[in-house]
Parts: sequence; C-alpha cells; structure tokens
Amino acid sequence: MKRSLGVCYYPEHWPEERWPENASRMVEAGLTWVRIGEFAWSRLEPVPGQLDFDWLDRAIATLGGAGLKVVLGTPTATPPRWLLDRHPDMLAVDANGRPRKFGSRRHYCFSHRGYLEECRRIVTLLAERYGRHRYVAAWQTDNEYGCHDSVLSYSDTARSAFREWLAQKYQSPDALNRAWGNIFWSMEYDSFDQIDLPNLTVTEPNPAHVMDFRRFSSDQVVAFNRAQVDILRHHTQAPIAHNYMGRITEFDHFAVGADLDIASWDSYPLGFLSDRLEASDAHRTAFLRQGDPDFQAFHHDLYRAVGRGRWWVMEQQPGPVNWAPYNPAPLPGMVRLWTWEAFAHGAEAVCYFRWRQAPFAQEQMHAGLLRPDNAPAPGFFEAAEVARELDTAHEVNVTGGDVALVFDYASAWAWDTQPQGADFDYFRLVFAWYRALRGLGLNIDILPPDTRDLSNWKVVLVPGLFTLPPALRDALATAGGQVIFGPRANSKTPDFAIPTALPPDLPGLDARVMRVESLPPDAHIPLEEGGAFRHWAEEAEGSAPVILRRADGLPALLGNEKLAYLAGWPSDETLPILLRQLCKNQGIETRALPPALRTRQAGDLRFWFNYSHEALTWGDIEIPAAGVVWVAT
Ligand code: GAL
Repeated sequence: MKRSLGVCYYPEHWPEERWPENASRMVEAGLTWVRIGEFAWSRLEPVPGQLDFDWLDRAIATLGGAGLKVVLGTPTATPPRWLLDRHPDMLAVDANGRPRKFGSRRHYCFSHRGYLEECRRIVTLLAERYGRHRYVAAWQTDNEYGCHDSVLSYSDTARSAFREWLAQKYQSPDALNRAWGNIFWSMEYDSFDQIDLPNLTVTEPNPAHVMDFRRFSSDQVVAFNRAQVDILRHHTQAPIAHNYMGRITEFDHFAVGADLDIASWDSYPLGFLSDRLEASDAHRTAFLRQGDPDFQAFHHDLYRAVGRGRWWVMEQQPGPVNWAPYNPAPLPGMVRLWTWEAFAHGAEAVCYFRWRQAPFAQEQMHAGLLRPDNAPAPGFFEAAEVARELDTAHEVNVTGGDVALVFDYASAWAWDTQPQGADFDYFRLVFAWYRALRGLGLNIDILPPDTRDLSNWKVVLVPGLFTLPPALRDALATAGGQVIFGPRANSKTPDFAIPTALPPDLPGLDARVMRVESLPPDAHIPLEEGGAFRHWAEEAEGSAPVILRRADGLPALLGNEKLAYLAGWPSDETLPILLRQLCKNQGIETRALPPALRTRQAGDLRFWFNYSHEALTWGDIEIPAAGVVWVAT
C-alpha cells in the first residue's frame, strides 16, 4: 500500500492571506493530508447560535484547491466559554470534588447530557456542511479522549448517570449488594439512589464499586464518541478516526474503535520517555534524544488492533515538545526514523504536529515543521526527505507476527483499583513482555481480550488478564501453538471477587495459586536456572508438570507445550531468556538484538531501526546513528 504524510494545521491561528502560501508549501514538501478544525469551536460559533463557517469554507477550499486532502476534526474537546454559561455544571469534577475549570481544554464531563446535546448540534452542522465536501477526505472525532486525566469525573451528573447504569446492570439493589459483597463493613444499599461515586471515602472504597465506576466511565466515552459517529455516518462516506494517546488506559479503546474506521494515535517519543515510562536514569540518558525504542512500536501494534488493521499516526513529534518535565531536541534523523517505523508497522499515514510553531499561548514552546518565523525547522527537512523516499520506495506491506500479546483495558482498571503492591501496573507488565519480545527481533500482534481465534500465532501471551472472558476461554481450543497465562491471570471474577475455583482455572491445566506476594523494588525471588521474579510472585500447586522452578523449589512455570501458567513477574533480564526458549520450542527464529537496535518484517522488506547515537551493525547491515535501513528479503 502507498503510505502518505500529513500535518496538523490551524488556519484560525494565522492571517488568512498566509493560507495559500502555507498550503502550497505543504504540497511542495510532499504532504498529502492536512488535519484542521479540532479546536475551532469559538470561531465556528462565536456567539451561541450564530455560526460562522465561511472562514472554514475558505480554508478548506484553499487547502483542498492546493491539492491537499482535509481531515476535519469535530471541535468538542474545546467547548467555548459561553457554553459554560449555558451549562454551568458541565465541567468534570476531580476525585477531591473540585471542578476542572475553563481555561485550557477537555473541560467537560462525559456524562453531561446538555453538553452532549451541544456536541450533537455542532457535529450535525459540520456534517451537513462538509459531509460530502470533495476536499474533506476523513474525519476525526474530538481530540485525545482521556488526555489530561479527563475520563473519570466525580460530578453530580456522573453520579446520576452511574446510578442509572447500575440499575440497568443489576436490576435490584439486592443483586448489587450480593455482587459487590456489601455485607462487608455494612455497606448494603436499599436503593440505587443511595449509591455515591467511589471518591472521598474514609479509607479505600469497595474494589467492586470502583471497578463498576471504571466500566461505567469507559462506557460514557464510548457513548459520547458514538453519538458523533452516528451523526457523521448520516452525512459522509469518508472514514472516521479518533486520535488516541500513549499509555492512556482509562477507557476501552477497542470499544471506541469498534465504531470507527481508522484508529490513530499521537506519537511523542521524547515526551513519553520523559513523562510516562518506568525507566532507569541510564535508560533515560541513553535514549534522551531518540525516545524509548519500544514504546512507539507497542502503540503502533496496539492501535493496529484497535483499528482492525487501519491506523495512522495523527500527530508525530517533529522537534522538542513543551509538556514533559524535560524537552530535549531529537537527534538528527529521528523524525525520519519514527515516521518509517510507523509505516513498517502498517500506518497508512503519518501527520506531523504541527505545521508552524505558534508564538502564543500554551504551546508556544512546542516545535512545528516550521519555526515561529515561518522558516523551516529541522523536522521539516526530515519530513520532506521521507516524502521523497515514499515516492520512490517499494510498497510497504503489513506482516503479522508469530507471537501475540493480549491487551485488556479492564485489567488495567482492575490492577489500578487493587494493585496489592505499589509496582503492580498492568501496562508496565504487558509492556515489559512486549519489550522482551521485540528485543528478540520479532513481529508482534496485539489482541483484544475477546479474540475468538488463536490459530494464527505460534505463541500467545496473556500476562495479568484479571478475568478470562468466555470467548477467550473457548478460543484456547483454536490455539495452534503455546499459550502462556500469568501472573495474576484469571484471578478475579467479573464482580471483583476471588473465584471459588482458585486461579488460573484454565481448561485442562491442574494448577492453583495458593498465595501471592508483592515485593518492593530491591527484592527478588531467584529461579532455579538463573534469573528471578520481581514485583510479584505466586505460590502454585497442582498436578500440572513443572516446566521451570524457583530456586526454593516452588513451581515458576507449570503446564505443557500447549498451555502453561507463569507464577510470577519475571525481571527484565529474565523475560528475554524465558521467551527465547519458548519461541525456540515453537520453531520461531529469534535474534538477540542490542537494546538500541530494532527490526520489523513488513511484506518483503526487513526494516532496521537504530535508536542509538552511534552506527550499529547487524551481520553485514550497517545502520547509521538514528538511522533506518530496509532490505529486500
Ligand atoms: C497532543 C494534542 C495536540 C497538542 C500536542 C502537543 O496531545 O492532541 O493538540 O497539544 O499534544 O504535543
């Protein structure tokens, strides 16, 4: 497939007479897409009910006339100030009961019906006007659901909606009391109207209560997005996307993605390394100007799954950002590398954020492809280089992996609710497995937890899945190779209780976890053949064969060549050794790559990505510092 480039652009930030020059420069640079509009509500409707779409008509005509395809965003992440006067209670409320005020963005509660109606109104107007517009080739709903911690809201409207959601789910307070175990601490309710949101309790609230609140909150995001999609579908045939973020787990992206045509995400490698990754100081220093070698790839693979094969990078970091604790500049070459890496994972398009650095407001320190004075910034030249390469390059096709990793948002909520050890974080766990697999040079597929057919993969890994959905239980019979569960897999019922049949309770595997323990960072449990468990370890028993033991004799891995259970969290050094052996048993070829070198097979091309500031060689291939090389295979 032909891959393409684009850019995020804000015509409302610049004098109209500059638009034609901006558009022609975008085209000259080899860009195909321009995303606009997602924050422009105050200019589309300066006064309630008085709409001004003329400027947007002209902007789209200018951009489209120059040869660009427009991605039009719905502006619902930035309700204008007057909207707040109309709906003073539309703000989200934080866990301490404080409203999250106007003055930045994402200042709305997903449960507010009045705000939802306002969104329906503006989206309808946009859809009617531009749904069949020849230059509007794709749509984006809202902007980065969940960013800035904006999913959970403890507002009065959220509380009412939560009560309705609970009444629907449980039908009677008794059923809810039983499901939650409310006899504990006399927490029983006799009416849904008595149930509050799980914040500001004296000590921890009931985990079942929190888990339902997390499910409810995710459902609110899904419903909010669906309301927009339903309207857009009436008026347009163009594909609809949303731009997700990195390491946001507060809502079920698979559920939102099911309503959309394309998943996209916003990739800020240097911001993420500084801002949202557990890493040693040495790791942060080594990858300061390159970003973590696996974080982007993980999300590429995740969003390929969320988009059921169709996905983009909607925003790609082009230079220093403004929002992380430290905001270094990328090494020369990294913007090109990040872009090609996305293509190698199957991105249809990569759009840079943003065209020109804005000299005003919150993001004035955020690089664009152009500097504030309109001259090209270093990222511009790398984007243009990729555009030239795309013109002449071979097609990049998507190749699936031999190995799959299940990712489940509900498990993230569960272990957030009840970590049982300060370091037990679901994303961290799954990402550690991903990193180890990628260090073995493998293509990896990420699967949703309701996957029904496992026959495509030789190895399927299911770390930390809090409850085993019936579909996945049934799918185990379809597995062609080895499936590994654990740690903590299937250790709760959907109601957040310990199941009567102790975990993991997997078909045909006689193994039970008798006791679990969490460990502080400096503790570990050695394994018999070297390596160790860290953070989390389980004492298991049963008649399943023991594949690997702890040094103290307890089982570490039990099962057979089809299905096994891992009773602990392997250290970062241990995981690659374990996984390498597993792959070997299944006839999967692995490579032990240096930490900065990554590879991916894409159709008949093999890509090599060098995340270090020195040239690296692999066999007879030399990959320059911050470089990417592809070879036909
Ligand atoms: C993204 C967001 C953009 C912009 C960018 C800055 O999270 O979608 O609007 O704020 O970050 O890096």
